[in-house]
Amino acid sequence: MKVTELQVSDYRNLSGQKLTLDKGLNVFVGDNAQGKTNLVESVYLCCIGKSPRADRDKDLVCWGKESAYVHLRYNSRFGDGEIAIKLNSKGKKQIVVGGAPITKVADLLGNLNCVYFSPNEIRIISSSPAERRRFMDIDLCQTDKNYFYSLSRLNKALLQRNNLLKAAATLDEAREMLFVWDKQIAEEGAQVIVKRRRFCEKLKDYARRCHEKLTDGKETLRLEYTTPIEGETTEEIAQNYFDKLQACAERDFAARHTTTGCQRDDVVLEVNDIDVRNFGSQGQQRTTALALKLGELMIFKDIIGEYPVLLLDDVLSELDVDRQRRLLTFDSRLQILLTTATELPPEIVGIPYVKYRIANGVVMK
Ligand SMILES: Nc1ncnc2c1ncn2[C@@H]1O[C@H](COP(=O)(O)OP(=O)(O)OP(=O)(O)O)[C@@H](O)[C@H]1O
Ligand SMILES: [Mg+2]
Repeated sequence: MKVTELQVSDYRNLSGQKLTLDKGLNVFVGDNAQGKTNLVESVYLCCIGKSPRADRDKDLVCWGKESAYVHLRYNSRFGDGEIAIKLNSKGKKQIVVGGAPITKVADLLGNLNCVYFSPNEIRIISSSPAERRRFMDIDLCQTDKNYFYSLSRLNKALLQRNNLLKAAATLDEAREMLFVWDKQIAEEGAQVIVKRRRFCEKLKDYARRCHEKLTDGKETLRLEYTTPIEGETTEEIAQNYFDKLQACAERDFAARHTTTGCQRDDVVLEVNDIDVRNFGSQGQQRTTALALKLGELMIFKDIIGEYPVLLLDDVLSELDVDRQRRLLTFDSRLQILLTTATELPPEIVGIPYVKYRIANGVVMK
């Protein structure tokens, strides 16, 4: 998958402009606060439907402007496509895919896929389990619409269950409705667990190999998906999930929220048998995050039959030159959009790339 053309208008500090992108390595160089992250963020927006860093869509509109617009053209093995997103300063978002307006984000997902990596992504390793679940979910939602729907229904049912636990005067009063929510949570949750497990099984191998490559074989990464719900098949998991929710009713009522289920899932990450989430050095955590992202790229390639676009925001300064080179030459079929505040080091300059300068929200080739 390649983005061929990107047009932005009043997207954060980026004023109106259109640029064509190279099918290989695109390097955006600029001082701090010029709009580099904003640029790759606009591409991410067209893939996922939201920003990787802003919670509110209205924050993406240039201050003082009514609306922002992003339009991109891309090609994939299915042919050419285009995605347009218009946001207004009140937070309203209109998405148009291939000329047709869509109302559900699910219909945007999977048209153009990306893997995004920024220094912030280290939080997948060092932060709470929620970040590791988010990592799995973003991937799975991009490649599997049913996963997206299961996860949405699961989250809604879980919210309802928690509201019920808060509102009910006694547990007996809540029992009947708990039964209904528990059934739904168990069914959707089983789908989520099975798919997360399958994803981690694949990621385990890919990420270990990428990690080995990045560390020149000095370190070994072990990855394992963990969930409080046992079982192998979807049916078994759904049954165990339901039983567990029912068994936890008293405890949940006392706590006024649901204490078990796949909102407790996590991914164990060990480097040379040490829990890298809690005890890894900064460098080890960074390399692990990068290995997960590269593993993610390879899973995408397996599933969709081609590489997604790789968005690398400001990650070079975190890596030594050897690792930089290995990253940028990962596979020549990969389109990379890379931002950097400093020029590429001379050791990297042998790699073909197209350079753009960004200053004050304006991109120049
Ligand atoms: N909604 C908005 N409207 C206008 N400007 C904004 C908006 N949101 C953010 N900005 C500004 O856009 C500028 C560029 O931000 P961006 O994060 O893209 O910088 P950058 O080039 O990636 O810098 P760095 O090298 O420090 O990461 C910042 O000064 C930021 O304050
Ligand atoms: Mg930036």
